[in-house]
Parts: sequence; structure tokens; C-alpha cells
Amino acid sequence: MKFSHAVSFEDYQSLARRRLPKVLFDYIDGGAYAEVTIKRNATDFESLCLRQRVMRDMSSIDLSSDLFNQRLSHPVILGPVGFAGMFSRRGEVQAARAAAAVGVPFCLSTVSICSIEEVCAAVETPPWFQLYMIKDRGFVRELLARARVAGCPALVLTVDLPTPGARYRDHRSGMTARQDTLGRMKQFFDGLSHSSWLYDVFLRGRPHGFGNLTAAGGKAKSFSEAWEWIRAIAELPGSCRTISGFYGSGPMMG
Ligand SMILES: Cc1cc2nc3c(=O)[nH]c(=O)nc-3n(C[C@H](O)[C@H](O)[C@H](O)COP(=O)(O)O)c2cc1C
Repeated sequence: MKFSHAVSFEDYQSLARRRLPKVLFDYIDGGAYAEVTIKRNATDFESLCLRQRVMRDMSSIDLSSDLFNQRLSHPVILGPVGFAGMFSRRGEVQAARAAAAVGVPFCLSTVSICSIEEVCAAVETPPWFQLYMIKDRGFVRELLARARVAGCPALVLTVDLPTPGARYRDHRSGMTARQDTLGRMKQFFDGLSHSSWLYDVFLRGRPHGFGNLTAAGGKAKSFSEAWEWIRAIAELPGSCRTISGFYGSGPMMG
């Protein structure tokens, strides 16, 4: 199937499966444990039926709303996705542009490939910023100051990283568990065999570090080393009051 022929979620899912190395596809497609919740999310949505109505006045249908001084064309927000710049060249910039084009907010992850500054330079409306609490409070303060200076209108505080879900696929694929030599070779050749990703993202989409965390150091040679590093620097979130003190009085969600 060509990209231009894709219409449904399943179409995009199968295109992603073809385009991405397995370690990346499993990361974005997978869930925790036996992936029961992820399946339930889908079946629960499938059980909702739209009630058809006819002969109604359609001229004034309006799905827009106001949230945090921002006009949303639809009640949709692009949630933070770590490593997005590994799926697509400068992926966070592309996501921010796509969100801006349809008038919905995009939330930038702490562990994005593109930095806050890179994303903000590419779009007129700054993204929301998602924070993973980090042990080094001075670094958190600086990170939030960068988000404020860039104009990020809302802060999203994620509170579940210190006990990440047991994602079996990520363990098996080498995303979160260290690989032996054979595993590393498999991952290497799998990357090589995905030529469009290799050319577009791996070669032309550099640098691949965490743009927001460059100043915190951390040089990972593999995905699993990157996760180990993130786990080492991350911490249970401080009190909301502390964070809002760092960020000022803007809107904040946990
Ligand atoms: C591949 C992937 C990466 C994610 N990365 C982050 C992240 O960096 N920060 C965060 O707060 N949430 C992250 N999330 C959580 C999502 O933003 C979202 O809250 C979660 O997937 C629930 O929404 P859903 O049911 O629509 O998937 C990630 C989710 C996925 C699937």
C-alpha cells in the first residue's frame, strides 16, 4: 500500500510496521504486560456506536473549544511521545507542524529528539511541554525556564516513569534490555534492511540525542543504554507546588 492510499488507523499501522526497524515499531505499537489494556482501549472504542441523525441543520456544527487561552479546532491534543524523532526525520517538528496545521495542541516530551527551541522555531504556536521529574532540581529549573522563555503555554507533569510498565516487546527487541552480540547484530542488520528509514531518519535526521537533555550529559550507544540513563536521572515527581513554583502560575496537568 502506498502512503497516499492510507486512510485508516490499520493502514498507517501496517505502513509503520513496514517502514520502521522492529525495535522502533514494537516500541510505538506495543503496550505493557500482555497488552490487555491496549486491546481493551480499542474494543471499548469499537463498542461505542454513533447515532445517526438525518434532516438536521448542519450549518452550525462546531467542534472547537478554548483551553488554556488556546483555541482548539477539535477536542484533540497530540500527547507526548518520547523518541519521536527516531520514527520520522525531526519527528517532533513534523508533529508540531501537523498539529498547528489543523489547530490542535502538540505536547513535547522531555525525552524528545528535537529540543524545545528547535520545535518552537518551526511553528508559530509553541507546544505544551511534558516534564519527567529529574533528580537534579537545578536542571529541572533550567529546563522549565527554557520552556517558559520559548512560550510553552502549559506544563504536563508525568508521574509514572519511576515504575515503568513491563513492556515485554521492548525487553525482547532490545529497546530496554541490553542485547548480546548476536542481538546487537540482528538489530544492526534490521536497521540496514529498512532503507527508507535508514536514509531519511538515521542518516538525514541527525542528531539523535535527547535535545532537551543535552546539558545533562549522558552518551548512549544504544536504546537500552539511553533508557538506563533516563531511569538513573529520573525521579518520583516532587510536589505539584514545587513544580508550579518553578514554572510560575501557568496551567499544569498531572
Ligand atoms: C511510544 C510511546 C511513547 C510515549 N512517550 C511518552 C513521553 O515521553 N512522555 C509522556 O508523558 N507520555 C508518553 N507516552 C504516553 C502517551 O503520551 C499517552 O499518554 C498514552 O499513550 C495514553 O494515550 P493513548 O491511550 O492514546 O495511547 C508515550 C506513549 C507511547 C505509546
